[in-house]
Amino acid sequence: MKSWVVGNWKLNPASVKEVQALVDNLVDGVSAQSDIFQACHIVIAPCVLHVSQVSDILERKQGLIQLACQDVSALTATSGAYTGDISAQQLRDSGVEWAIIGHSERRQYCHEDNTALLNKMNHCADQDLGVILCIGESEAEYEADRTTQVLADQLSVVEDFLQQSNKVSADYLSNKLLIAYEPVWAIGTGKVPSVQDVTNVHKFIRERLQSFDSTLATTPVLYGGSVKPENAKDFAASELINGVLVGGAALKADSFLDIAKAFSK
Ligand code: PGA
Repeated sequence: MKSWVVGNWKLNPASVKEVQALVDNLVDGVSAQSDIFQACHIVIAPCVLHVSQVSDILERKQGLIQLACQDVSALTATSGAYTGDISAQQLRDSGVEWAIIGHSERRQYCHEDNTALLNKMNHCADQDLGVILCIGESEAEYEADRTTQVLADQLSVVEDFLQQSNKVSADYLSNKLLIAYEPVWAIGTGKVPSVQDVTNVHKFIRERLQSFDSTLATTPVLYGGSVKPENAKDFAASELINGVLVGGAALKADSFLDIAKAFSK
């Protein structure tokens, strides 16, 4: 299975000029060693304000790097009177291929719950926009040994999605769904779980997905939380870690591409 290396830029960088420089450096780096990077999928998720700008550059470079966004409307898949929202249809039209949903920061600050996430998944499927569903336990939940319970609850949105959406194709299920396991206590903290712990959690996630539908037996499961060039090789060595979701280290082209190299095997 080809690995996935996804850069979540969050609310960065601060200016259009910096966005331009970051994308240019990424594109140059990937073009210069395209043979290496063909071995993994590279995806970047700028903030929505910069999506069109990044899309224009990537379009000219023909699929070297895929484009994601960090959220999508739960209210409609298309258009309508929903001030401030951005729909799956509009994102697709702007060249976006993936939507990150359920990131812990959005769960925490924007109260994104399973009901909203189910709507978002349905809207993405409706517009053939891929979903990167983030799940993960908080530090208190980890310490209380509740990780699998929390993940099972967060994954139930996938089960609901499968039950409700009778029109979702096997092709969509096989190619347009990624799960990112991100322990909240590892995000931006420099604390990382051991590769063995992540591998065990991924095994649990994989079994759970498979119990919903056999098509999900091959759904890529990514790890996220303080991934850096220094630890990427260790994560890449586990068969059950199919890629990474990278925050801070995705904001420098060199460090992001070093991580992608570790997964380009
Ligand atoms: P981090 O963020 O790599 O800075 O820990 C990961 C994420 O939030 O997706």
